[in-house]
Amino acid sequence: MTSNKTLTMIKPGAVNNKHIGAIIDRIERAGFRIVAIKSLKLSKEAAQEFYQEHAERPFFNDLVSFMSSGPIVAAVLYKENAVQDFRKLIGSTDPNDAEEGTIRKDFAESKSKNAVHGSDSDASAERECHFFFSTIDYLEVLK
Ligand code: CDP
Ligand code: MG
Repeated sequence: MTSNKTLTMIKPGAVNNKHIGAIIDRIERAGFRIVAIKSLKLSKEAAQEFYQEHAERPFFNDLVSFMSSGPIVAAVLYKENAVQDFRKLIGSTDPNDAEEGTIRKDFAESKSKNAVHGSDSDASAERECHFFFSTIDYLEVLK
């Protein structure tokens, strides 16, 4: 059985470029319900923890610096098949490879500054939703 939630972040570049509204509009039009949402700035330590799976990768330090460079928007999204459908909506990690009409194709500046995050599995979604929110933040919304 697949879970129906996923975690997104609108990354600092897209926030700085004033794309929050346009990106949320895309997300809602694609049928996702925003059941919890907030704006915050990640500390370096928090960004390191969020991306711990990439700690050994060459791009890790740049990724952490970028993700802690300014405010982000984090949100829990609900929809049937949320993880897969959201990955499809955002497109490939590198905007040059992303399909037309995807969020990254239209809003990413580069592979590193690629506008949005989307969980890559139900297990990641579970961990990432709890990184930013408590279950009580969104369970009542679903009733
Ligand atoms: O975000 P996504 O799941 O598509 O990609 P990832 O492989 O999990 O990498 C996480 C993030 O690291 C990406 O979204 C990029 O912002 C960044 N990244 C990078 O800067 N350079 C790479 N070669 C790969 C990833
Ligand atoms: Mg990933």
